[in-house]
Amino acid sequence: MNCIKTDSEIKKMRTSGRLAAEVLEMIEKYIKPNMSTEDINQICHDFIVHEKKALSACLGYHGFPKSICTSVNDVVCHGIPNKKQILQEGDIINVDITIIKNNYHGDTSKMFFIGKKSILSQRLCKVAQESLYRALKIVQPGIPLYTIGETIQNYVEENDFSVVKEYCGHGIGRNFHEEPHVLHYKNKENNIILKKGMIFTIEPMINAGSPQVKCMKDGWTVKTKDRSLSAQYEHTILVTEYGCDILTYQKNEKISPKLVNKK
Ligand code: MF3
Ligand code: CO
Ligand code: CO
Repeated sequence: MNCIKTDSEIKKMRTSGRLAAEVLEMIEKYIKPNMSTEDINQICHDFIVHEKKALSACLGYHGFPKSICTSVNDVVCHGIPNKKQILQEGDIINVDITIIKNNYHGDTSKMFFIGKKSILSQRLCKVAQESLYRALKIVQPGIPLYTIGETIQNYVEENDFSVVKEYCGHGIGRNFHEEPHVLHYKNKENNIILKKGMIFTIEPMINAGSPQVKCMKDGWTVKTKDRSLSAQYEHTILVTEYGCDILTYQKNEKISPKLVNKK
């Protein structure tokens, strides 16, 4: 298994990562009460296709019908935008963007709050984002992949939330989903050693209640089994000599886009 990208591939992945991040930066101001998730989808689609001359990787992917995923409240991932789904005060939503530019993919997601934040939703989203950031801060050549999952799981469980096991991060490049699988919990079989030039996503899904999930009849929408809230953050990253570069870094994130982790 050779997951290492060439310099010319890395250059294209930087462009694709930046573009995916720009979609999240652009959509923020539109996420407010009375917008439908289909409105959010349409604005992102037009921006990706017409302004950025790129493609949505989600549209048509194994038959997925829309250009982005919008996962509201108890939806864990793969929520399908719908004009009947109206955002309401107090909701939380994950917007997951995957674009293709020059044949290379960029994949990133974050949480947005609609109106006032509840104490629980704020804490859940904070812990989900921090679990991703803690993982990013240990990435470096020479470590086994499972230390990423271990870092995430330990932090999330210390905070009395749970990690979804059914979905994982992934290698990414010319293909949307490539080797390796990046688990968000500790599994010693997830033991490939990180090397400079690898590119993959880390995208922990964190539940307020039980970790169990259930796929709905539409074949896509995944909800928490106990209907508790769920939150997710995702970045596409490049393993560098001493740490990692966040290819999908958004302006104003409270972490460095280039992390130096090796002592
Ligand atoms: N963006 C998701 C991921 O992080 C996958 C979405 S697949 C779709 O891997 F078909 F639902 F769009
Ligand atoms: Co992904
Ligand atoms: Co994604």
